[in-house]
Amino acid sequence: MKRLLGLLLLMSASVWLAACQEDSQLPEKSVFKEDEMPQDGEPLKIGFAMDTLKEERWLKDRELFEQAIESRGLEVDIAAANGDDALQIAQAEEMIQEGIDLLVIVPHNAEATAAIVHKAHGAGIKVIAYDRLVKNAEIDLYVSFDNEKVGELQAEKMLELVPEGNYVYIGGAPTDNNAHLLKKGVFDVLQPAIERGDINIIYDEWTEDWAPEQAFAHMSQALEINGNQIDAVIAANDATAGGAIEALAQQGLAGSVPVAGQDAELAAVQRIVDGTQSMTVYKPIQQLSERVAALAVELAEGNEIEPTVSINNGKSEVPSVLLEPTAVDIGNLESTILADNFHSEEEIDGME
Ligand code: GAL
Repeated sequence: MKRLLGLLLLMSASVWLAACQEDSQLPEKSVFKEDEMPQDGEPLKIGFAMDTLKEERWLKDRELFEQAIESRGLEVDIAAANGDDALQIAQAEEMIQEGIDLLVIVPHNAEATAAIVHKAHGAGIKVIAYDRLVKNAEIDLYVSFDNEKVGELQAEKMLELVPEGNYVYIGGAPTDNNAHLLKKGVFDVLQPAIERGDINIIYDEWTEDWAPEQAFAHMSQALEINGNQIDAVIAANDATAGGAIEALAQQGLAGSVPVAGQDAELAAVQRIVDGTQSMTVYKPIQQLSERVAALAVELAEGNEIEPTVSINNGKSEVPSVLLEPTAVDIGNLESTILADNFHSEEEIDGME
């Protein structure tokens, strides 16, 4: 009887031991829960179809999104179409054929990219619109900053600096839904002052492809048509603000005509320190890329997500997450852009 008991004890001990050994064979920092692995056991693969790398911010988006995805143990496939709609569609198609699990897209043309959403859905792949909305397609999720708020912040600052006078509006690319949201935000704030006759919008043009050279040409024309009688300029982003300030400089007006921009580009921050640009709107790209990466994993795993708002894109009410932008001028440069290390003091002359 005693011998039988001993035998049983021995057997159960060896079974227990075997179980312990099995656990220790899993990789140390297993980032994958069982259901995160696609059926083929490969890590989830995210496609990131970008419009352009022309502006400084998109280089940051690419770098930070890549890090955000890879830090979750996933794969990412990135392509940039540099403003070419046909190329963007071909690049997205290639990613779909290569078996991505989810597509994240920065559309060049809000309308043209609807075709990509249809192709992705046809392959059972969900699509997230990154920073810019895709129009007229049943997009699964849109994540951006509150672009109307960006325009409002620009106009509020300019009205503070120039409550009366002649205003020039240098718009963004008409193919970019953000350019329309920005403009709406600007004019919602300026309207009362326009109606009171305090300010006149003496020039208002879109800028194809956000091209600084075009912004320069628009600003030069505005100065010429109005005999340099311009009191304030609102440009849809820092790249176009840079073009406008060059044109002002040619007339010896840089620094005496307040200019608003967006994106907190290094050159714009330098201009704010030098006094030739009055403000920019800071959008912490690290928050956007992190948020999209986290939501991409949730969606790719088939989980429900908590949108903060829904936005109508002409086809459906798109579940959306909008992040907060911040107005920045010389007064809060340190507590925002530098505090976040978006740029470092060393990169900016005259900040020591
Ligand atoms: C917008 C974006 C801006 C700006 C612009 C030019 O969609 O929100 O940050 O940089 O594109 O690429």
